[in-house]
Amino acid sequence: MSDTLWWQHGTIYQIYPRSFQDSNGDGIGDLEGIRQRLPYLIWLGVDAVWISPFYPSPMADFGYDVADYCDVDPIFGTLEDFDRLSADIHKAGMKLILDFVPNHTSDRHPWFQESRISRDSPKRDWYIWRDPAPDGGPPNNWISNFGGSAWQFDEATGQYYYHAFLKEQPDLNWRNPEVRWAMHDALRFWLDRGVDGFRVDVIWHLIKDADLRDNPINPAYEPHQRELNRLLEVHSCDQPEVHEVIAEMRAVLEEYDERVLIGEIYLPIERLMAYYGDDLKGAHLPFNFQLLQSAWDARHIDNLIREYETALPEGGWPNWVLGNHDQARIADRLGPAQARVAALLLLTLRGTPTLYYGDEIGMVQVPIPPERVQDPWEKNEPGLGFNRDPARTPMQWDESAHVGFSTVEPWLPVDHRESNRNVAAQKQDRSSLLCLYKRLLELRRERKALSIGRYVPVTAEGDILAFRREHDEERFLIVLNLGSTTHRLMLDEGVRGHVVLSCLGREAGDELSGTIEIPANEGLVVELAD
Ligand code: GLC
Repeated sequence: MSDTLWWQHGTIYQIYPRSFQDSNGDGIGDLEGIRQRLPYLIWLGVDAVWISPFYPSPMADFGYDVADYCDVDPIFGTLEDFDRLSADIHKAGMKLILDFVPNHTSDRHPWFQESRISRDSPKRDWYIWRDPAPDGGPPNNWISNFGGSAWQFDEATGQYYYHAFLKEQPDLNWRNPEVRWAMHDALRFWLDRGVDGFRVDVIWHLIKDADLRDNPINPAYEPHQRELNRLLEVHSCDQPEVHEVIAEMRAVLEEYDERVLIGEIYLPIERLMAYYGDDLKGAHLPFNFQLLQSAWDARHIDNLIREYETALPEGGWPNWVLGNHDQARIADRLGPAQARVAALLLLTLRGTPTLYYGDEIGMVQVPIPPERVQDPWEKNEPGLGFNRDPARTPMQWDESAHVGFSTVEPWLPVDHRESNRNVAAQKQDRSSLLCLYKRLLELRRERKALSIGRYVPVTAEGDILAFRREHDEERFLIVLNLGSTTHRLMLDEGVRGHVVLSCLGREAGDELSGTIEIPANEGLVVELAD
């Protein structure tokens, strides 16, 4: 598809490296494990692999606390393993996207170690240090994303440092040009090694209010919410100056061919759009998490698709995400029948889809006994339902004791509750979720209208969500039933089509015209005749 770039027509597959494949029998996944499983990703038909962090790290936040941006943690392997993996990914015609974590380092990073030695350290201003408030407390009221004050007092020099996440993750000071240059060099290190792009962690956090003003109280806060929500994050993130920082990062990628910059951004649609940047010189793909956060209601989703499409800047490329390592599994949230409908939606919407490992076999939240909890967020704010471990469990390859992931007990428990919730079983079963994903990915590759075609809204009612995708002569109608009863959709006069794919196994080729009956949990891709 030479008229679009790979990251526009391709599908991205996210791998959480601790949980994809263990190749050395330590119960934790690694780069060599990913390499061994590449034939599966080729079979499935994804185009790019995004790997969550594998850099040297004390693992306080499982790799999102980086101690060296330019190496591989021994748990995951070596730089040679990385090069082998990268070569094989590219040999297969796929692309490789890394996770870049620029907002904070680990407190063990040599930069922070140097920064904390004295107030005169040359690296002092690489982080955000402030004197205590007059009462000796933290410099302002900001709250950590994982609960508690976002400030940590450091006895040695009598100042506090700021950490938007764990105290083991001090925030870098991106207002300091030296920090920017050092981080650009880290990007170049991987770009020179051949990576095709980055997913940038919490990119909207990089710049904070210059005066570090208190955040206002959130009047809508309710006690069951995370502590962070007690305040409105007016001054601690999404500051106007962040766009300049992102444009500079983008400029580094522009030194190379066809690399992609993806930003992790949890913001409402209108604020999200700013992250495409002036003249589209920001992130190529500011992650669109709307589907992760919204009620599974046809009218609501229809509105948000329209709203998102309308809000996109001219030339801005859309994208959609159904799951990631921070959110509950989609199949758990929707149940197995609607998980199929969700797959069809993700892979027929206009824009780059990102698929989270295991969602293609319908992995659900795996119960974690209290003594096996790993997630630092759950440890900080226990029992409120924030544990991210249940969505990070080992990929279920087969039915064996350790699900084909490892030869020993894995770092998180595996799920044996359903005998067919694994790759081996679902590969054999043409009606499985996995085979539906594979067929959808195939269709998306075959038919340009589905990947790069226009999105045309279609009016529908009740539980029915419908839209069209069109490119040149190709025209498709997508009809989804998000509810549990049969509905009807009336095609416009004279419109005819035939079924290309159905969630419930309706015969491909079935001719449709007039009123279409759409049973509960059905999703149809219909090719229109004229
Ligand atoms: C991002 C990551 C999340 C991590 C946090 C801090 O939101 O996706 O896993 O805990 O940043 O780095």
